[in-house]
Formats: sequence, C-alpha cells, structure tokens
Amino acid sequence: MSFDVSRKEAQQPAPPSTGHNGNAVAVLPSMSTVTANRLRLNPNTEHKPENYEGLQLEFSPLLFSSLERYLPPPMLSLPRDSKLHYMRDIILRYSPDGERIRVQRHREYRQKIISHYQPLHRELYTMHASNFFAPSFLKAINENKEEGFRSIMAEPTLGVFTFEMFQPRFCELLLSEVENFEKWVHETKFRIMRPNTMNKFGAVLDDFGLETMLGKLMEDFIRPISKVFFSDVGGSTLDSHHGFVVEYGIDRDVELGFHVDDSEVTLNVCLGKQFSGGDLFFRGVRCDKHVNTETQSDEILDYSHVPGRAVLHRGRHRHGARATTSGQRFNLLLWCRSGYLHPWRMVQHDTQITFGLS
Ligand SMILES: [Fe+2]
Repeated sequence: MSFDVSRKEAQQPAPPSTGHNGNAVAVLPSMSTVTANRLRLNPNTEHKPENYEGLQLEFSPLLFSSLERYLPPPMLSLPRDSKLHYMRDIILRYSPDGERIRVQRHREYRQKIISHYQPLHRELYTMHASNFFAPSFLKAINENKEEGFRSIMAEPTLGVFTFEMFQPRFCELLLSEVENFEKWVHETKFRIMRPNTMNKFGAVLDDFGLETMLGKLMEDFIRPISKVFFSDVGGSTLDSHHGFVVEYGIDRDVELGFHVDDSEVTLNVCLGKQFSGGDLFFRGVRCDKHVNTETQSDEILDYSHVPGRAVLHRGRHRHGARATTSGQRFNLLLWCRSGYLHPWRMVQHDTQITFGLS
C-alpha cells in the first residue's frame, strides 16, 4: 500500500467492496520494523504524555507529546529518552529526501505563481468579515453560542449542517478571481496542480495567494462552530487547511464518486452559477475499518446546492456529488485539519514533509 497525505493524493474514494479504505488513518502501524510493537490506531486519550519542551529537537515538542499517545502500551512506561528515541526514529524514517524535495518544489511552484499572477480583486485577499458574510452568520459567530449556531442552521441528517454563509457579492468576486486565474493559466500555459486526484478541473486557492485569508476563515469562523459540533474529531484544534474551488458541468468535471475527505471537517459552499443537478449525497460516518458497511435509512441525505449556502460535515462522513446535467457549478471547499489529532499531519505541517509507506 502507498500512502501520501499530500494534497494531490488527498481525496480518497471509498472502495466498494474490499473493506479496506486507502485513506490516511490506518497507516503508521504498517511499518515493518515495529510489527511486534505496532503503534495504536487511535490515541490513548487517558495517557498523560511526557513534557518534551526545552529539549534540542528537530521537530515540535508537541508532536512528540501527541505521538506518545499512539505508542504501543508496553512502551508507555519506558523512560522519556527511550520513547523519544523511538518516536524520532519513526518520524525520520518517514520523512525521506524525496518527500522533502517534493515539498520544496511545491513551495517554489507557489512562489512562481504568486510572483507572476496579478490578482483581480485584492479585497478578497484579506479578511473583511462584514463584506464577505451574511449578517445572520456573522451574528451567530459573534455570539459564539450553540443555540445561536443552531438558530441559523439546518441539520437534515446527523452531523451535516447547512446554513447561509456568504453574501452574493463575495461569491461573484471569488468566481471572477478564479476565472481570472484560469485565464492567466491558459494564456501563460502554466501547468497548474489540480485540487486533488478526483477533480480534473478547479484551482487551489492557497496556491495563488488566498492562503492567509482562508486560514483566518478557518480559525475565526469554522473552528468556533466545529468546537461545538465536531469536538470528537478535533474540531476545537483545527490548525491547517487546504482551500480550493471545484468546477462542474458538461465540459468540466461532471460528478464525484463516493468518497471521504482527507480532513477532520469539510466546508463546502456553492458559489454559483446557473446549473441543474449536482446534488450532494451523504451516507453516514464510518471509521476506517467499516468505511464500506451498509447505509442505514436515517443516514441517507440528498442535498441540492444553493449559492452562498454552506454545508459543514466531518471529513469522514461518506459522500459524493451527482452529475451536474447543465450549466456550470462552482464550489468552494475548505478541508480543515487538526495536527494535534493526527501527529503525522503535524509532521507534515512542521517540517513540510509527507509520509510515504510501501
Ligand atoms: Fe469530498
């Protein structure tokens, strides 16, 4: 099996019948050298990790504290230095030079775009909440209370929340910016990376300068809601994101198969334009082991997109998109991730590397 939490590989289809999910979570335990002492699949939340602050380490002390919760039970009682040595070995083993080079190239790729692309609507590149958001959404965020969130939301199936989020003007500007970027790509024949392996069209917003604004969007607007509704998957510790726009239509991506996202929490907002079809379908949340199990009747939801309206759900909530049968549909996606919950993501975040197992 190969695994890569990088963005280009991130969105994973839920395979139909093998009972095996190629997605991220069950990866670290497959290391051959520790077969007898496998890391845990889930963290031991009752274990209080050592304090690794103040040591000369190549990686964040918090990474070691988080990873310690995944250690095999017999190792937990070992001295701190032994655990540290073991965990450092794991981290270094899965940070091969090839990955470092890949990440360095991605950094250069992004720099190249940013130094040549001229943004059309500069007001999008910094957060202007009162210009971006619907007043009802802004009010609920400012109050920061569960009842306030619930008052603006529908929850048509457990764990899928929908609410009016963006002003029409924001949607128009963002669409126009994406089209301007696509035009630049076409004119300069720049070879861009698409958002993930399942979408052949669309653009990564973080790659052309919107990373800071989207980071703010996640921290100040999505994390407070996720803290209330998705605390079980690290909703209160979301600390990185992957932001992109997807494009659907007859001459674009038409539909999206059944899959789970490489995120703790996914924000999906329709930006327009005119289209028919393209419903999102949801079929319940599953752990890695049971990702292909049958759907219960109360887990079935088919949702029709409304421009400006957001859908917020756990990344592991199984879903897909039906065919967009006419017109063009653009959606903003923000995959929100928690490095605290997934130490291997934190490695990626801290050192700009990804793991690759075989
Ligand atoms: Fe998805």
